[in-house]
Amino acid sequence: MSSVAQACGKVILLGEHAVVYGVPALAVGIDRGARACAYGQDEGPSRLVIGGWNVSVQPDESHDLARAFRSMLDAASPMRPCTVDVETDLPPGGGLGCSAAIGVAIARAIDPHASADGVQALAMAWEQVFHGNPSGIDAAVSARGGCILFRKGDPIDPVRVRGSLQLCIGNSGVPSSTRAMVDGLARLRERKRDLVDESFEAIRALVQNGRLAIEAGDRGALGRLMDLNQMLLGGLFLSTPELEHMCGLAREAGAHGAKLTGAGGGGCAVALVPTRATADAVLAAWRGAGFEGFATSVATEARTVPHESGAAP
Ligand code: PMV
Repeated sequence: MSSVAQACGKVILLGEHAVVYGVPALAVGIDRGARACAYGQDEGPSRLVIGGWNVSVQPDESHDLARAFRSMLDAASPMRPCTVDVETDLPPGGGLGCSAAIGVAIARAIDPHASADGVQALAMAWEQVFHGNPSGIDAAVSARGGCILFRKGDPIDPVRVRGSLQLCIGNSGVPSSTRAMVDGLARLRERKRDLVDESFEAIRALVQNGRLAIEAGDRGALGRLMDLNQMLLGGLFLSTPELEHMCGLAREAGAHGAKLTGAGGGGCAVALVPTRATADAVLAAWRGAGFEGFATSVATEARTVPHESGAAP
């Protein structure tokens, strides 16, 4: 028997990094993500295959992906060994929740009857191997899609989007490590606690207002909040010249606002745009400067699509 499942990637609209310290953040699922197919087998060890990355590992190997796969299998305890094939169209290290989307897709494929909370818990076992102490926002939004207000330790708070959110996402071309960026900010906070905590409090206010703007369908206000969030992230040394350049190009092309998304230090920028024509203008401006990008809108929740009798592996 086999089971196929999908999971969406994400962008953080407001609140990355502060979310690690208990401040809420707003994130949306996007229509790119990961897909996993799990095949139960009668004998032999389980195996994880990520075709596009030339990865094929068994749970007893020392590779991070093997360790993450092992912790997911330990938590899910499937009835039989299984081979899981994974594909993703998200860039790794791009701030789009690639590792969480893969974790959620695998969790859904090996445990098709798990609830969203169950899937999120399995994906966290996976994420902890890569990120040490992740806030959990990536796994939470990937397991649900749509728009959520996430606060560490609290139940997920879905946010109703009035109208739709049209976004452009562009890659600065510089991969970044979430763990390194989170650790770097922790070191800055050890030295300059007041400055960092003041920025976090300002971000908290932006997130609260961002929620109201999304619910009211006020995209101009949301864009301005994104710009302010970008300024604060820059002040915490999380932005880069490439990300600043991309945000400037997006605003000049008519975006309501733009910022880095995810860990920063490279990775992706996100711009909120009013129309498809503006999305095209932003993407053209980025392309002209050598940055690849794509347009997307808020994705709804992805679902497991079982094959055959739909039995779990
Ligand atoms: O870069 P990503 O997709 O891993 O997002 C990281 C978001 C952070 O707030 C920087 C870290 C976290 O665990 O929430």
